[in-house]
Amino acid sequence: MKKRNLVFAIIAGFAFACGGGEKTAESSSEAASTTAEATAPAPEMSLEEKYKDDPIYIKGVEKVKGSDCMTCHMVERKIIGPSYAEVAAKYENTEENVTMLAKKVIEGGAGVWGEVMMSPHPALSEEDAKDMVRYILLLKK
Ligand code: HEC
Repeated sequence: MKKRNLVFAIIAGFAFACGGGEKTAESSSEAASTTAEATAPAPEMSLEEKYKDDPIYIKGVEKVKGSDCMTCHMVERKIIGPSYAEVAAKYENTEENVTMLAKKVIEGGAGVWGEVMMSPHPALSEEDAKDMVRYILLLKK
């Protein structure tokens, strides 16, 4: 019985020592990361954040979200289709490009970004497709 108590005391002692040691390490690394955060430059603003108050953004994002675009496109990451940021970087924001890309959205097609095809959207009006494209071309970094 006495021996057991001694073993217990030793184990408890070790656990305490270890626990204590860990705590010190934890709090010192916490302090280090807080300092790093304070000195690091502000993280880059997302494109959504950057343009969210623009009327072209507000009108377009609503139409895009009301269609199926988001199943294949994300703003800043390529999924099935190119990211909107990539599309915005590729095309100048001109009326000519808006008309051309709106036609592509309505008719669908492949070959510009790869072999994967964009499905056609024959139910979209030209005006809605153009509002969507204007929103996409706004998303320049
Ligand atoms: C089934 C998946 C899919 C859906 C749904 C989809 N897209 Fe696409 N989209 C693609 C793919 C794939 C491409 C690349 C086509 C290519 O390489 O020519 C693309 C390309 C584009 C482009 C660039 C076209 C070019 O010629 O550079 C625009 C703009 C675009 N999509 C907008 C939209 C909009 C707006 C919607 C919603 C109405 C939409 N997409 C829905 C898959 C999709």
